[in-house]
Amino acid sequence: MSVRVSSLPLQLIDIYNDFASYSELNDPTTYSKEWTIQGWVRDFRLQNDNAFVSVYDGSTSETFQLVCLRDKTANFETLENLRGATVSAKGNVIKSPAKGQQIEMVCDSIEPIGLVQDKNSIILAKNVQLETLRGFQHLRSRFRSFGYIYKIRSTLLKHIHNFFHSNRFYNLDPNIITTSDCEGGGEAFTITSLDSNELVKRTENMLKDKLNLNNTTVPNLETKLMSEFNVYSNDFFRKQAYLTVSSQLQLEALTAGLSRVYTLNPSFRAEKSKTKRHLGCFTHLEWEIAFIDITQLMDFSEGLVKYVISQTLKECAKEYSELDKFLSKGICNKLTNVISNSFERITYTKAIELIEKNKQKILETYSKEITESDIPKWGDDLGSYCEKFICDHIYSKPVFVYNYPIELKSFYMKANQDNKTCQAVDLLCPQLGELIGSSIREDSYDKLLKRMNDKTMDKSVLNWYLELRRNSTFSHGGAGLGFDRLVNFCSLIDGNIRDVVPFPVAFEECEY
Ligand code: 4AD
Ligand code: MG
Repeated sequence: MSVRVSSLPLQLIDIYNDFASYSELNDPTTYSKEWTIQGWVRDFRLQNDNAFVSVYDGSTSETFQLVCLRDKTANFETLENLRGATVSAKGNVIKSPAKGQQIEMVCDSIEPIGLVQDKNSIILAKNVQLETLRGFQHLRSRFRSFGYIYKIRSTLLKHIHNFFHSNRFYNLDPNIITTSDCEGGGEAFTITSLDSNELVKRTENMLKDKLNLNNTTVPNLETKLMSEFNVYSNDFFRKQAYLTVSSQLQLEALTAGLSRVYTLNPSFRAEKSKTKRHLGCFTHLEWEIAFIDITQLMDFSEGLVKYVISQTLKECAKEYSELDKFLSKGICNKLTNVISNSFERITYTKAIELIEKNKQKILETYSKEITESDIPKWGDDLGSYCEKFICDHIYSKPVFVYNYPIELKSFYMKANQDNKTCQAVDLLCPQLGELIGSSIREDSYDKLLKRMNDKTMDKSVLNWYLELRRNSTFSHGGAGLGFDRLVNFCSLIDGNIRDVVPFPVAFEECEY
């Protein structure tokens, strides 16, 4: 059974494929075929009695040359108006007599479908910086660079699915509406169906009644009231609910009985960070595996990252060769190094020793960004600059850091025998920082309960999670990979996450 739907409109790739199969069997110099093609105009060049219009339609990163002749092509005089337009062209596709392209279309007609009405439209601009285009997110797919980046993004996704299915995983997406803040960082977005004006009015009246405060204005009223009364008891779920920060806890439940599960759900973080790597909503690749130890967890992450990068490098060879010329010089080398060398694996304690040893160099390298007080001691977070130094300057390749202090990490991570460290593993990548956060999960009911109590967590919403340990517990581990960070790593050099995500949202940024 064919998966191709033959009634779809023809695309440029169909012409290229047709020519390729024709030239295998016949003399390609005689190739001449009639086609109708629709797409968008990239460039227009006028030369005496010829005009050359190059079009693209996303089916390939190549543009396609339409040749228009003054005495053959209808409306030749008005062709110049077609800059940036959407067009439909009819004509014969021939082997190109000129260098630069294998084939071209000699047009009988080229009709506008949609002209560019605003002559100062950014669509007509050339060499626009990625940063400028962040202000025109709805038009970014019209630019060459975004054609490359989005092709890489889409290809990475395809190979991620291939990798998980080849390793017998179930692709299951837990609901993104949840009652628990998995990471316990208090960075979850509350969702409510209550109208905020009504919410304020209702709670205001309640408070005024209670405190006898008629006609008085109270500062921070809404926040005070939220904690004073359970205002969500009248809400859609009759309790407070959030957009998920991670699907991990639910994936853990699914792992029991299924052994291997993964999701590409979005995660939402109300993190007030304005960095090159933080979003308010990101595509979160998470997986969970039963009966696994920390070495196997690292082996799996390394295998996954290397596989998807090597497949994407092959499949997007054309896009990479273009990116390597201008936008992301050195990208092919960088990624080839990643797939050809073993990732480094060091404990957190070793990372602290390395930082101590290289303290002066670190302070010199990031003299504008950090001071001596930012250099971590055992027990502190490594901090993004020290992580960066370890990756970029000490090893120049991806580095797994494992066995972090228990206090630094989330409640669900398995404690080591020493009771000081836990089986957490972060994967750090050059110029990017953290790509993967992972751990072996605490499978002892008593230890998990103690950790939740120590952290004064609200256990009422996680009874179901505790039950997974109480009845028929099992060892398991899993990970979360920031997919948008992976795309950034795989398409730009020291890039910004906003430039690889269609319609990114971040702290103080939500324009669409
Ligand atoms: O390290 P994190 O917070 O780990 C978890 O959420 C675990 N529950 C995952 C799991 O074990 N299933 O997030 C995992 C990864 C990070 O390493 C980072 O790549 C990405 O998610 N990430 C973000 N990406 C973009 N914007 C943000 N605000 C991100 N926060 C985390
Ligand atoms: Mg993390």
